[in-house]
Amino acid sequence: MNRYKRASAQSIQPSEITPESIYRNRRRFMQAALSMTALPMLGLSSTVRAAEYDIPADLPRYSGPQWLQPKLGDAVRNPGYSTNEALAPYYDAITHNNFYEFGTDKRDPVRNAQGFVTDPWTVEVSGAIAKPGHYPLEDILAPHTLEDRIYRLRCVEAWSMVIPWLGFPLADLIKRFEPTSQAKYVHFTTLEDKAQMPGQGNLFGTIKWPYVEGLRIDEAMNPLTLMAVGMYGNALSPQNGAPLRLVVPWKYGFKSIKSIVRIHFSETMPKTSWNIIAPDEYGFYANVNPAVDHPRWSQATERRLPSSLFSPNLIDTLPFNGYAEQVADLYKGMDLTQWF
Ligand code: MTE
Repeated sequence: MNRYKRASAQSIQPSEITPESIYRNRRRFMQAALSMTALPMLGLSSTVRAAEYDIPADLPRYSGPQWLQPKLGDAVRNPGYSTNEALAPYYDAITHNNFYEFGTDKRDPVRNAQGFVTDPWTVEVSGAIAKPGHYPLEDILAPHTLEDRIYRLRCVEAWSMVIPWLGFPLADLIKRFEPTSQAKYVHFTTLEDKAQMPGQGNLFGTIKWPYVEGLRIDEAMNPLTLMAVGMYGNALSPQNGAPLRLVVPWKYGFKSIKSIVRIHFSETMPKTSWNIIAPDEYGFYANVNPAVDHPRWSQATERRLPSSLFSPNLIDTLPFNGYAEQVADLYKGMDLTQWF
């Protein structure tokens, strides 16, 4: 999210990308298989198999710590949260990243994050809840069955990808902490560790570390809001926010904070990193909205990755990133040009 220039066109060679048709066909096949078994009628879903994602053999797979593997293996596909759109090739998903802690270039996170230590990992949970504490990630995940959900991710820079995440509803986690009536907002904080995150040592950087984000409690409780620990059937890569990140698919990607170490509940609206830097450009809500342009570029369309200079793959951006049916009610009566 370079403030001073729009995202540059991708320079990935076509030969590096697994043909889109393979992903599309695979997905159609999986969906047909699912509907034939009529599992959704029974309220059940199929088990996810990482092999379904056709990850090319020469690309790294991230298995995560030993204890996570049974969880990933037991993940179920949730047909209620899916899309027919072509998945982003795995290559794009793990090499075209915004994770400023590891550098500002799209390729910096994959270059600089490979040694990032994500286990053991503790999340501090605090504020307006009955059960504050420092929880090992293993305990956080223990009661949750992971779901495979395919979501659109729309960056404020006007590119987008379709990504299969493995995660569980944030709502289910929040309920365990027993929020009090004062819990009106949820704050999230990313790890701050200059020794591991070279971008945090950049004296000329724009972000005041650690990266912080937040949601209104009803947004956090919406069934679409996901805590992700995996993608493409495997663990999250460090560049995608291992070991634990937020995914809020109807909001611009910067809300989907990575490598979370703190979750805090309060009565007041949290400060959020991009809003601190440029309040006129990045609002707290950051709902995807083709009718409200960024002051320096249009939000009416997006480049769906993979895209290139000659084949930009430009598509129309949808209100709430296509999730209006599930979330528009959260903003009833609000002027979305004011609360952008
Ligand atoms: N989280 C942290 N901690 N630091 C970041 O720089 N970038 C955000 C978001 N989460 C960011 C972050 C932005 S701008 C986007 S678009 C998404 O991560 C990108 O997620 P991806 O790299 O998995 O595609």
